[in-house]
Amino acid sequence: LSGADLVVVGAGFFGLTVAEQVASLGKTVVVLDRRPHLGGNAYSESDPETGIEVHRYGAHLFHTSNERVWRYVNRFTDFTGYQHRVFSVSAGRVYPLPINLGTLCEYFGRQLTPEQARELIREQAAEIETGAADNLEDRAISLIGRPLYEAFIRGYTQKQWQTDPRDLPAEVITRLPVRYTFDNRYFSDRYEGLPVDGYTAWLQRMADHPRIEIRLCTDWFDVRSTVRPGTPVVYTGPVDRFFDHAAGRLGWRTLDFRSEVLPVGDFQGTSVMNYADVDVPYTRIHEFRHFHPERDYPADRTVIVREYSRPAGEGDEPYYPVNTPRDRAVLQRYRELAAREPDVLFGGRLGTYQYLDMHMAIASALTLFDNEVRPRLS
Ligand code: FAD
Ligand code: NA
Repeated sequence: LSGADLVVVGAGFFGLTVAEQVASLGKTVVVLDRRPHLGGNAYSESDPETGIEVHRYGAHLFHTSNERVWRYVNRFTDFTGYQHRVFSVSAGRVYPLPINLGTLCEYFGRQLTPEQARELIREQAAEIETGAADNLEDRAISLIGRPLYEAFIRGYTQKQWQTDPRDLPAEVITRLPVRYTFDNRYFSDRYEGLPVDGYTAWLQRMADHPRIEIRLCTDWFDVRSTVRPGTPVVYTGPVDRFFDHAAGRLGWRTLDFRSEVLPVGDFQGTSVMNYADVDVPYTRIHEFRHFHPERDYPADRTVIVREYSRPAGEGDEPYYPVNTPRDRAVLQRYRELAAREPDVLFGGRLGTYQYLDMHMAIASALTLFDNEVRPRLS
């Protein structure tokens, strides 16, 4: 590592964006990742049996309204016209999500105008005052009323946290938006789509530069001593791990994925089906062929992945920050420690303990490059 102008820890979108910008500036960069592949959590691969592209760390949908990010990502890939939509099974019936006028008409079994639906939800939500809610269940009821809470939120939340929603803090839910139109597009950003030839091809193109060296299966903590002192390091691993958990562990939720190839051409007719009921152990089923209806996938086999959610233990992949008041206090301690590391810049999902969509990780990496990295290298 002693020859590089910059070292990046983590070959996810954040790290690769920084590396690509550094290489374009004429400097050399080594990117380390402890995993055997690049791409971080956006990595995907072809299922060997069917050729269907499967996102190994959970389904990834690209969407952004950020013009700079959209121009940037289009340098590395074209996008399909895929528009994400999600459905939910509740008590044996199927509803569109996010909760919208279609969901309400279906659930209440009659035609509702937007104004009638608003009035109905207002009445049902009046049962509990939002300010008085001191647990997740009461907060949710105060926002959307008890019937919708019980149909769509209670079981799903219980499964996400493995905890009764009455024992979860109210802050876990800040908003529960209800759309009073029939629009059931999941994202409302200006641009949306999936990379035409897959995430891994996109990520590899970002890394494909003579001044970028990728070292896989390499853990930062095994090689840090070989970095020339004064070399800037962009660290996108877990911030608590960087400091040996000196201020305690930050809480994360993790996911378990159980994948199956089925001998049918179409299992569920859509890419993501949520399961709101608590007696179904998984939270959702992904059927990956539906992310790319334009591709020539086999007509007699399909790949489905059941997703299970739980709090992360020490050896688990950290996916979503839990972000309790205690976590925020611990994070504050790590921010203070980080400020005392002049050569290390902390970034990305794990390095800042923040859920970041891909477009946010890329935007944040471009900003870090402009404000912190470029000045150090020139
Ligand atoms: P990561 O992709 O996590 O990359 C960090 C890398 O650092 C990892 O590869 C890791 O192996 C490496 N690393 C950590 N520690 C070390 C170490 N000590 N030494 C070497 N390497 C190390 N975004 C969207 O826009 N749309 C979606 O639909 C979407 N779905 C998601 C679903 C799930 C389940 C999750 C968890 C995330 C999802 N995201 C989605 C977010 C997306 O994954 C992130 O925006 C993106 O991964 C952020 O990139 P990153 O580089 O910050 O982190
Ligand atoms: Na949801």
